[in-house]
Amino acid sequence: MNPRLVVLTGAGISAESGLRTFRGNDGMWEHENIDDVCTPEGYYRDRKRVKDFYNFLRRGLKEHEPNAAHFALAELEKRLGNDFLLITQNVDDLHERAGSRKVLHMHGDLNRLTCERNPDHKFVFTEDETMDTVCPFCESMSRPDIVFFGEPPLYMDRIQDALRQCEEFVYIGTSSVVYPAAGFKSFAKSYGAKVTCLNLEVPENDPYTDICIQGKATEIVPRWCKAFK
Ligand code: APR
Repeated sequence: MNPRLVVLTGAGISAESGLRTFRGNDGMWEHENIDDVCTPEGYYRDRKRVKDFYNFLRRGLKEHEPNAAHFALAELEKRLGNDFLLITQNVDDLHERAGSRKVLHMHGDLNRLTCERNPDHKFVFTEDETMDTVCPFCESMSRPDIVFFGEPPLYMDRIQDALRQCEEFVYIGTSSVVYPAAGFKSFAKSYGAKVTCLNLEVPENDPYTDICIQGKATEIVPRWCKAFK
């Protein structure tokens, strides 16, 4: 069954929970080298460095709590049921901890590992991954379940179906520069959806966005969710 409303979130929704966004002032990519920690080449060059980087981020999750924007989306899911689909580019677990049940982590999930040989082998993992951690299904070496630059995002068939059929597409807290997520608004629009942007910075004269609401996620998302009919 296809949802009436599709929501895409990015790092901006978790910013007020204290998690760094990727771009902009003091963003993650100012402190870390993408080529080292977020590409297949970087991973195969130095697996331990990459596993340790995601171990550090995974450990850090415990220090952050979901905020009012995450809770508002969880409430909306309860209200709309199958008419609602949440897609996130985030690898944190704040949507789940706010109560969201169906979350498509299109860029992966820090609390999951996958298998180096068979990417369909995925498993929940909340400890530190070491060079000895193996896939429980086939005993090959594990790796973080993170979609590196150059790798295909997850759940794309399901996402495209939903974007084709939905009545409204809303993107929240994302800079809309990383594809394919950045192209969801034009794709949904071309199939007739109304497109709304909720963000600290909103695009000017964007031909694919019908409504822009500018502000902090914790303020504008709860208000928007409450008003959604
Ligand atoms: N409320 C709303 N929006 C905010 C807030 C806030 N409190 N704080 C920041 N933002 C907005 C910024 O204005 C920016 O547009 O969130 C956006 C964050 O953009 P990015 O850091 O680029 O994050 P995102 O779009 O999620 O990045 C996409 O890039 O590196 C990859 O895989 C990584 O999933 C990530 C992808």
